[in-house]
Amino acid sequence: MAEIVRVELGSDAYPIHIAPGLLADAGALLRPLLPGPQALVVADEQVARHHGQRLVDALTSAGLRVHLATFPAGELSKTMATAERLWQACAEHRIDRGDAIVALGGGVSGDLAGYVAACWMRGIRFAQVPTSLLAMVDSSVGGKTGVNSAAGKNLVGAFKQPVGVVIDTTLVATMDAREYRSGLAEVLKYGVIRDPAFFAWQEANAAALVARDPQAVARAVAQSCRIKADYVAADPFERGIRAQLNYGHTFGHALERETGYGRYLHGEAVAVGMRMAAACAQRLGVLADATLIARQDDLIARFDLPARHVAEAGQLERLVAHCRLDKKVSGGRTRFILPVRMGEVVLSEAPDETQVAAGFAAGLS
Ligand SMILES: NC(=O)c1ccc[n+]([C@@H]2O[C@H](COP(=O)([O-])OP(=O)(O)OC[C@H]3O[C@@H](n4cnc5c(N)ncnc54)[C@H](O)[C@@H]3O)[C@@H](O)[C@H]2O)c1
Repeated sequence: MAEIVRVELGSDAYPIHIAPGLLADAGALLRPLLPGPQALVVADEQVARHHGQRLVDALTSAGLRVHLATFPAGELSKTMATAERLWQACAEHRIDRGDAIVALGGGVSGDLAGYVAACWMRGIRFAQVPTSLLAMVDSSVGGKTGVNSAAGKNLVGAFKQPVGVVIDTTLVATMDAREYRSGLAEVLKYGVIRDPAFFAWQEANAAALVARDPQAVARAVAQSCRIKADYVAADPFERGIRAQLNYGHTFGHALERETGYGRYLHGEAVAVGMRMAAACAQRLGVLADATLIARQDDLIARFDLPARHVAEAGQLERLVAHCRLDKKVSGGRTRFILPVRMGEVVLSEAPDETQVAAGFAAGLS
């Protein structure tokens, strides 16, 4: 039985359908939301090779005229130049206001295709069929879309909610192992910020999750989507509480920047960042339950994610400086999300730099 999680956004509310094997039903599930007559499926070349034809077939058999547009896999494709090529594809296929764009793939396809849909003819319908674990538990829900630019990552974009999301959890079987485990960092994060029972469930089912057991993956994806959907409904434009989803990310982003974005996958940097945030919370006297650090470390290790970065000389100082720079860029508000106890976090806007440095130091070896 498919799980259905609703993102409650009034007239923009939408369902997320989750179950192993759901790709075959994508046409039947999405057709009522996509009147058509046409749909443009957007996927990177790798995802298109594995799963593109099955999605095209499912949508075609539901009565849509379907076109497939692809781009080279990877973050480097998340640019205005690729968006421009996709708008060209929209023009060639005469995609108009009644038609839709369907993103098939990881966060890059979702962000890019969503942005293309938000702008084409000032906004046409958009649906998501995520294929990476990160996209299933995070990027396909919430409506943040966009591209990278010379000014920085994810600075150009639009909020564009999909009309529906279809998640076939068996699709993660074809993912690269490291990419898959990187997605588990976000699953772990949801437990720490919001749901102690979910964290405990992950502790009990870590081996099944690492082995990509379809039922375990479906359960983890459904609970992650429920938690994300709650945040999105409470704060659709990320002006307040939704910032809690960035637990581990301020430290993690500094680490990604310091290591030139090539060394760590995003989830790996977030795993190290969560360790740093917990240590920082302890130094600041915010952490009320010290067992959180050991439990978080243990689950990070069981998910085969890094908890420490082997530092080179001068890196600690540079990491702190990256946060200072961040602060300038974001108008003086570097936001640290710090754990209090399992399932509860607080926002700290300006912890003392020595405490931030101590947090960073706890994630270095
Ligand atoms: N919009 C949001 O709210 C949000 C949230 C988090 C991250 N993001 C964005 O998401 C992106 C990262 O997402 P990602 O990690 O999914 O990256 P991605 O889309 O590049 O996918 C990672 C790699 O996995 C491959 N892949 C994906 N699914 C596969 C499958 N089932 N089988 C085989 N290969 C598969 C892709 O081809 C790619 O090579 C970043 O650009 C980030 O900024 C957006």
